[in-house]
Amino acid sequence: MKRVAILSSGSGSNAQALIEYFEACENIHVVYVGSNRPKAEVLERADRAEVNNGVFSKSDLLDGTLKDNLDILGVDWVLLAGFLLKIPGDFCNRYKERILNIHPSLLPKFGGKGMFGMNVHKAVYEAREKESGMTIHFVNESYDEGAIVFQGRVDISNLKSPEEIASKVLKLEHKYYPKISEELITLAEE
Ligand code: GRF
Repeated sequence: MKRVAILSSGSGSNAQALIEYFEACENIHVVYVGSNRPKAEVLERADRAEVNNGVFSKSDLLDGTLKDNLDILGVDWVLLAGFLLKIPGDFCNRYKERILNIHPSLLPKFGGKGMFGMNVHKAVYEAREKESGMTIHFVNESYDEGAIVFQGRVDISNLKSPEEIASKVLKLEHKYYPKISEELITLAEE
């Protein structure tokens, strides 16, 4: 049994997709949903799903408190799902190749500092891209630069706004993030 923590700063629709998917998995259990934002909707989603959840501060992340708390919970893997703070080096080392992120573009395009949420989709729209998608990657100390493990693509040539792109990409994220993380976790732990 592998124990997973999900970190999210916002709405948490991906976190919910992960929780629901792993409910049916025998070998993976979501033991914690954490947010740096006390009012983040992800915490309500975790409550409704009856998953242990809590709030931590930026300094908890930076000074090792969060890492120590995840150790106490016996967390093996960390899945970032709309988590906006930068992950410090000692946290990355603790979860080396056991920490994943999802990004709503085809990295390395439209990644890096400031590229999150609608900023990404607006930039994609303004660049008149014909295709967009989502990327699942390992996390290192630089935003959006860890090794890419999976990309899902969608045709956006007929879409008329950044919002339409966001909606299409989000569907892809919900479809693939749970499935690909399950495959990776299962493979790595065999
Ligand atoms: C997703 O687009 C994800 O790729 C990005 O932030 C967004 C989070 O959406 N990192 P949600 O909070 O999962 O609804």
